[in-house]
Amino acid sequence: MDQLQVTSKLPDVGTSIFSVMTQLAAEHGAINLAQGFPDYNPPQVLLDALARHARADGHHQYAPMPGLPRLRELISQKTAAVYGGAPPDPATEITVTSGATEALYAVLAAVVHPGDEVVMLEPAYDLYGPAIRLQGGIPVYVPLQLTDFRPDWDQVKAAFSPRTRLVMLNTPHNPTGAMLTEDDWQQLADLLEGTNILVLSDEVYEHMVFDGVRHRSARQHPALARRSFVLSSFGKTYHATGWKVGYCVAPPALTAELRRVHQFLTFSVSTPTQHALADVLAEADLYHGLPAFYQHKRDLFRELMQETRFELLPAPGAYFQLARYQKLAPSQDDVSFARYLTTEVGVAVVPVSAFYHDGRDHGLIRFCFAKQDDTLRAAVARLREL
Ligand SMILES: Cc1ncc(COP(=O)(O)O)c(C=O)c1O
Repeated sequence: MDQLQVTSKLPDVGTSIFSVMTQLAAEHGAINLAQGFPDYNPPQVLLDALARHARADGHHQYAPMPGLPRLRELISQKTAAVYGGAPPDPATEITVTSGATEALYAVLAAVVHPGDEVVMLEPAYDLYGPAIRLQGGIPVYVPLQLTDFRPDWDQVKAAFSPRTRLVMLNTPHNPTGAMLTEDDWQQLADLLEGTNILVLSDEVYEHMVFDGVRHRSARQHPALARRSFVLSSFGKTYHATGWKVGYCVAPPALTAELRRVHQFLTFSVSTPTQHALADVLAEADLYHGLPAFYQHKRDLFRELMQETRFELLPAPGAYFQLARYQKLAPSQDDVSFARYLTTEVGVAVVPVSAFYHDGRDHGLIRFCFAKQDDTLRAAVARLREL
């Protein structure tokens, strides 16, 4: 029989680096500081709520397509409580999605037409570029500045063309932890004034901010809020990345487009999980406590790392720490160094070049510090030997 021919839509894309490193970590018994997921459980109240709803009658069939009304109502209240302004309308402005991942994909599928350009800043979460391309869109990559990873707004401006449909931003930022300021949002608003360009603001690390600095949301800037899809992730906020529940807040016209895709992509999100999240969402302490919870981990990790020969970059937000390793391996590329750490030293990390479409190597690796204190201690004990 003739060999079956499949023409790949993403011929240059392999298995994501996170899966590769996690697999390598498992094979070599390495401590996994690579993939961004906690090694501790969600809050007990949330686990109890899920168990309750899993046992309840009537919570096991399809949820309404945009999300449970009760959960959307609570998301609306939370959004207004955290970011001020009018609460978004649960009926027309909030959609519960299968993680922020589905929301990202659905937004791109909803608004990017073949040949449209999408401006995105790099390094970037690895889904962005391929998901744009799958819609027939053209990613236009703008590098963040070394080493504070702030946007250069002149470069962003230069990246715009009459075909620009969307700008994608992520704050607090994966992998660098950098955060957009009020001034950044203002500069973006000035650039977009009078255009039809939309904004996708990926804010999944909204509650992981340190040193008293507050996260600024696109929602807090009225000129941007009217053209923005703002994404959140319950997976990040409740240490439940495996539950894959997130949501998108956007004005009615944008939400209507998002839902056109969402209804055919997943239709709706796991019903008992939505009930459980709704039970705990009003408990504001659970998310108000996150900055202190993660700042403790960041500070502990940074302090422990002082006894190693890694050089740490600032880590203002999210749960990632970037580091230089040149004192240990002056001329090694970041991918081989990350593999060496994983397979020989027993600590899995991610090379930052994996967050650039062209594999650009700045000699940086990313650690995830969303781990139990003892995990961090055990990992650094291995790194100290170097
Ligand atoms: C920047 C960014 N956006 C989106 C996601 C995906 O979020 P979720 O797990 O809710 O799909 C991640 C997960 O690592 C992320 O780092």
